Formats: sequence, structure tokens, C-alpha cells
Amino acid sequence: MKFFIDTANLAQIKEAQDMGVLDGVTTNPSLMAKEGIKGQDNILKHYVDICKIVTGDVSAEVISTDFEGMVKEGEALAALHSQIVVKIPMIKEGVKAIKYFSEKGIRTNCTLVFSAGQALLAAKAGATYVSPFIGRLDDVSTDGLSLIEDIRVIYDNFGYETEILAASVRHPMHIIECAKIGADVVTCPLSAIAALLKHPLTDIGLAQFLADAKK
Ligand code: G3P
Repeated sequence: MKFFIDTANLAQIKEAQDMGVLDGVTTNPSLMAKEGIKGQDNILKHYVDICKIVTGDVSAEVISTDFEGMVKEGEALAALHSQIVVKIPMIKEGVKAIKYFSEKGIRTNCTLVFSAGQALLAAKAGATYVSPFIGRLDDVSTDGLSLIEDIRVIYDNFGYETEILAASVRHPMHIIECAKIGADVVTCPLSAIAALLKHPLTDIGLAQFLADAKK
């Protein structure tokens, strides 16, 4: 399973890359705003800066909601760097844009997916990645992980190559469950990746080994 980091913070991206386990980055307009990145030129430069840190895919989201606007924005984003994947919302115009990009060989990540039907449409349109938001489903008392299971079954039934990119992943158990179900990718904050490291018996055992080594 691939690990993507869900942030536009360059220091966190670098820290995850330096751990040696990072496969890519996802961003969205909210994450860019959180870092104070404003203005088209600065936003485009920031995407290139991210691509220089990581070796894997970097999702960059369009903000247009009409087909022509998404195509124009997406083509500009894709031209920035070979690692860029154009992130497109799951709306009717978005499905059309994903189909268009798929035929042009431009890779896409279909975002804001909350149902198996939406994931099926994204795959049929030729999305490279589909992003079901599991944490936000959990937030409204709906089991986000069940959606990952359903999409896995549907994609395997028909051999869709669209990769399931579990998004809105909030904590280590989300990551473990996604790995068990067979999500292709999880994207999450650095804190969730770092939390996988932690076990009190590791800390106790190491302290004991180091103490014994001095004897
Ligand atoms: O990749 C989508 C993700 O950023 C949403 O996460 O925690 O805002 O629901 P969250």
C-alpha cells in the first residue's frame, strides 16, 4: 500500500520523505490556504516546490466547476511537472473532464467521493485515482471503511485499474484497516504516519537493551 501525505506544508512533506516511506502528496484548496499560499503564481510555484521534494505523485486540485474551466486549469497544472496528478471534484462536469484527461494521457484524482456509485463513475471515466473521504463519512455516523470495502469489490469485479486512494484518513487504525481491506493508497497527515511507529513495549524494550548494554 502506498503512503501519501495530505498537506501542503513543505517541512512536513520533507520530514515524511526523509523517513523513506513516502510515495506521494495530496493537496486541496483548504490545505493550500492553511499554508497561506495565495495568488495563482504562488500556488503553481508551490506545487513545483512540492514536486522537488518528493519522487512520487502530487495531486493538485482545480477550482473551476465547469468542463472548459477544469480542462484549462488541469492542462496548466499537468504541464507544471511530470509528477502532477490533476485533482477533480466528483460532479457531472468533473466526470466529463476526467474522461477528457484520460483520453489525453493526463492523470487524474477524482476527489470528494462519498459513495460506491460515485467511485464506479470515476473508474468508468478513467480516473487514475479515486479519493473516498472516510473520516468525513465517520463524522456523519456512516462507516467510511465500508465504502472502501465496497469500492474494492466493485473494482475487482470488473478489473478497473483506478487506484483506491483512501482520503480523510485521520488516525493509525484507519491506515491499518485500509491496508487489510486492500486500499491501494492512503493519504493522511504526518501525525497519523508517525503514530504507526509508537508502541510502549518498543520504548520499554529499547530502554532495557540500552541499560543492559552498559553492564
Ligand atoms: O484528501 C482529503 C482530505 O484532505 C480531507 O481530510 O481531514 O479534511 O476530512 P479531512
